[in-house]
Amino acid sequence: MSLQGRTALVTGSTQGIGLAIAEALARAGAQVVLHGIESPEQGAPIAERLQAAHGTRTAYVQANLMRADEAAALVERASAALAPVDILVNNAGIQHTCGIAEFPAERWDAILAVNLSSAFHAMKAAVPGMRTRGWGRIVNIASVHGLVASVNKGAYLAAKHGLVGLSKGVALETAAEGITVNCICPGWTNTALIQPQIDARAAQHGGDRQAGIRDLLREKQPNLTMAEPSQLGEVAVFLCSAAAAGITGVSLPVDGGWTAQ
Ligand SMILES: NC(=O)c1ccc[n+]([C@@H]2O[C@H](COP(=O)([O-])OP(=O)(O)OC[C@H]3O[C@@H](n4cnc5c(N)ncnc54)[C@H](O)[C@@H]3O)[C@@H](O)[C@H]2O)c1
Repeated sequence: MSLQGRTALVTGSTQGIGLAIAEALARAGAQVVLHGIESPEQGAPIAERLQAAHGTRTAYVQANLMRADEAAALVERASAALAPVDILVNNAGIQHTCGIAEFPAERWDAILAVNLSSAFHAMKAAVPGMRTRGWGRIVNIASVHGLVASVNKGAYLAAKHGLVGLSKGVALETAAEGITVNCICPGWTNTALIQPQIDARAAQHGGDRQAGIRDLLREKQPNLTMAEPSQLGEVAVFLCSAAAAGITGVSLPVDGGWTAQ
């Protein structure tokens, strides 16, 4: 499956799911602009490692997606760094778990900005060029929490449900123009993002981490297995492939059966 000649931008790609998607896209032959909140000194070596491993060009761009101006400028900066963006993966995300009565307003604002508004700004900037070139792939990393709810995740639920809705709308706007817009909706995936939730559950088992993970999986994820970021990387590559040209406006759960219940 070759993405040679395509240029991708993956937000939040210095670690976790974003890095795995960037690696999978590079392996498939795409040029990849990595993005992170880290300084160029920290981020550039990650991009260089991918370039050395996969023999495709890469670059690194720093931006704080909490800020609308930086989110709005990202696609243009990525295009300047390598080439116009054909594949946009909105992956950056943050989490905070807390009941509604205590939910800090500044965490609400931050989660909405990073998980939802940054995808709006990036799509707004990327779609015109994709239209002109008659080809584009947008993959938004939502969550099972874009489809169903859990307690104490109000801001995350609002952002991820919003991202699913926004993606459907942009998919319809661009459907006849060679552009697809889809969401991937992961369940529990083995990354830094969920460590605080694992720690909290482990604490209920005297600090036994494996017992905490088992507990979290048993509650929601019927295959009782955490996804690995690399698996999501391959799903993203599939959504960018020729085989997926007819798939748009879809929110694809990768959740071990979570949302089938
Ligand atoms: N891990 C899971 O179980 C899981 C499940 C469903 C959905 N997701 C989603 O997958 C995506 C990736 O998460 P992950 O699990 O790899 O977590 P992660 O914490 O490893 O990665 C998140 C990335 O977002 C970046 N980021 C955070 N705040 C930023 C900001 N202000 N500006 C720019 N970048 C910022 C981080 O630097 C990091 O690279 C997120 O959108 C998350 O909501 C994760």
